[in-house]
Amino acid sequence: MHHVLVTEKVTKCYLPGQPPAVKEVDLTLGQGEILSIVGPNGAGKSTLVQMMLGLLLPDSGMVRLFGHDVSKERRRIAHRINYASTDLSLPYSLTVRENLLTYALIYNMKNPRERVARLLSTLGLESFAERKVGALSTGQVARMGIAKALVNDPEILFLDEPTATLDPEVSGQLRHLLGTMVRERGMALLYTSHNMREVERFSDRIVLMRAGEIAAEGTAADLMQRYGTEDLEELFLLLAGREEVAVE
Ligand SMILES: Nc1ncnc2c1ncn2[C@@H]1O[C@H](COP(=O)(O)OP(=O)(O)OP(=O)(O)O)[C@@H](O)[C@H]1O
Ligand SMILES: [Mg+2]
Repeated sequence: MHHVLVTEKVTKCYLPGQPPAVKEVDLTLGQGEILSIVGPNGAGKSTLVQMMLGLLLPDSGMVRLFGHDVSKERRRIAHRINYASTDLSLPYSLTVRENLLTYALIYNMKNPRERVARLLSTLGLESFAERKVGALSTGQVARMGIAKALVNDPEILFLDEPTATLDPEVSGQLRHLLGTMVRERGMALLYTSHNMREVERFSDRIVLMRAGEIAAEGTAADLMQRYGTEDLEELFLLLAGREEVAVE
């Protein structure tokens, strides 16, 4: 498989004397692959994603996107990737359509208006298009953030807890949409979540993070077999729990 993303022993410590938020993480993401990173609050998921995006510099280790060191060549790569997270803040006094159009223009996309119209329809945002972002519900803002993240047709899409604020129906529709984009366009998707059930069927591969490190990695079936759990929820609780829990 062609790897579009590789991390090599990526480590980040925010505060001296504290344990690192991310410790020597080695990961790969293949073209056309869906990789989910799951782990409890504070496991280091967002820190890792920020380093993959080149928004946060690792203390040591390296992130390569398309073979380029992201800490040195971020500008060369930026147009090929995109990102959405729950704490994304967008200009609140612009409408949904104006916001998306601004991004389409920043990315220098062809036919920006058509592109935005298509994204609004794909994400079920048409009826909110002329509304200011400040007047949307949390879940509607999240959908807009995902539309924004798709505006440049990214080769790698990073979604940090995209479904945290979505209702189950919209959340399912989003995974369906993403699955189609991955299959049809070979997009690579890196997805984080707390919810094992949602990633179980959707992901090609799952990485469980705990206290900044990879606690387990594999397909859903691999993981359940390896740890002898009935479902991934049980495995999540097992691995997220105390260190002394015996796993093997
Ligand atoms: N800016 C920061 N300064 C200091 N410590 C930080 C900072 N950001 C995160 N941390 C700490 O780093 C660790 C990892 O946090 P991170 O946000 O990466 O976890 P997460 O897995 O994304 O958690 P969540 O599921 O809650 O989003 C936590 O202990 C957190 O308190
Ligand atoms: Mg996070």
